[in-house]
Amino acid sequence: NNNPVLSDGTRITDLVDLEHREVKMRTLSDPELYNLEMKKIFARTWVFLGHETEIPNKGDFIVRDMGSDSVIIARSGDGQIHVSLNVCPHRGMKISTLEGGNASIHLCIYHGWAFKPNGDFVGAPVEKECMHGKTRTKAELGLRKARVALYGGLIFATWNIDGPSFDEFLGDAKWYFDTLWCRTLAGMEVLGPPQRFVVRANWKTAAEQSASDGFHTLTLHRWLGEVGPYAKKPDGEGKGGDLTPEMYGAEVWTEHGHTMRCIELDRKIRRLTGKDPSTLTPEEKLTLLPPPGITKEMVPELLSRFSDEQLQLMSSNPPQVGNFFPNGLFEFIYLPQPDGTVLGAMALHAYVPKGPDKLEFVNWILAEKDTPPEIKAKMLRQSIQLLGTSGMVEQDDSDTWPHQTIVSKGAMSQDITLKYQALYETGKPEGWPGPGNVGAGFTKDDTQWQWWLYWHDLMTA
Ligand code: FES
Ligand code: FE
Repeated sequence: NNNPVLSDGTRITDLVDLEHREVKMRTLSDPELYNLEMKKIFARTWVFLGHETEIPNKGDFIVRDMGSDSVIIARSGDGQIHVSLNVCPHRGMKISTLEGGNASIHLCIYHGWAFKPNGDFVGAPVEKECMHGKTRTKAELGLRKARVALYGGLIFATWNIDGPSFDEFLGDAKWYFDTLWCRTLAGMEVLGPPQRFVVRANWKTAAEQSASDGFHTLTLHRWLGEVGPYAKKPDGEGKGGDLTPEMYGAEVWTEHGHTMRCIELDRKIRRLTGKDPSTLTPEEKLTLLPPPGITKEMVPELLSRFSDEQLQLMSSNPPQVGNFFPNGLFEFIYLPQPDGTVLGAMALHAYVPKGPDKLEFVNWILAEKDTPPEIKAKMLRQSIQLLGTSGMVEQDDSDTWPHQTIVSKGAMSQDITLKYQALYETGKPEGWPGPGNVGAGFTKDDTQWQWWLYWHDLMTA
């Protein structure tokens, strides 16, 4: 059904007002809609699950949720990564009840069917008498396998075996995302296991905010300007502590609901170095103010790996925050330090649905493998202080999403609409180096609206 009807007669198309760019509040907590999302979105698109450095050795595995399904993500003897449904095909027992570990064989604790890390069926106790009998071959008794893509060490999977490739799914966003995730030959690593905590909120409250909502920073995170890293630092463009200048830049949206917010680095370069950025080459800018996790010594590698246009982006308008549709968020944050230097924090979140009004916030902290250990340690500390479970910034966000979820259930509130009318109508800025749709200026609603449009496309597909 390409326009499903909820039990009260409401259709998906009744929930999204395409003309006025509004979405009905009940979308944030309706249980029937939630079940449809698990099938039409999480069982169809590519879903981010983890990082390959979480399972570096043969036999290593982690257990994660891919939408409403538990999956085993395992590295087989040949080094490949596999994603299999964590459900025994015999009588439906959950095979691994751990969060991770190392196993050359995954044994179901109910009757003892055994599976390889790649999901293939190995055998069962007293197999001759008690196993597949006359109607199934061994090859038919393996775990349900997802299609896997590795991108810059990130593990994505989909149940849509014949659907678009991961590169097609990323589309024009790949040109930008490569400058974040594929910066060095050695690649990135996780700095420890991810933080995980439950928020009593619908996954979409977090996911649509992740589609590059900068506007909320001025109010919800205003402490950043009052007592935080942006307090009382006159920058020539606004009074000290005013976060407004930070919210200018360019926002990019591409098909399939991926978005990012690119910051204006020239202002930071001028403030930190006193130099006129218009007289500097990308190499000089990247050396003066390297991206988060990159040292001056690593800049030559960037120059050798990226096109002139990508280097222009990285040195003038790097993406600082953005999303992988449906439920991933990334942050590559430049953090001014008291001594005048700038440190970076790099994090990736998944907002894993756990029911119509519950999500698990999973927070990975990352660094390039080549980043010196003392800088990695500082990045880890800064990320923990700012982001995720213990972080001051995202505690603000995690408090907001449950309130939205709760009020969306009210008899009157259900029909109130979420509004996305602040739109760029400028087209791509002059001289912009990259593809996709771009709007320059103060942060607006386009990127979150595009997130909802792709949600609408999939829910009515
Ligand atoms: Fe797994 Fe029977 S349910 S072996
Ligand atoms: Fe926030």
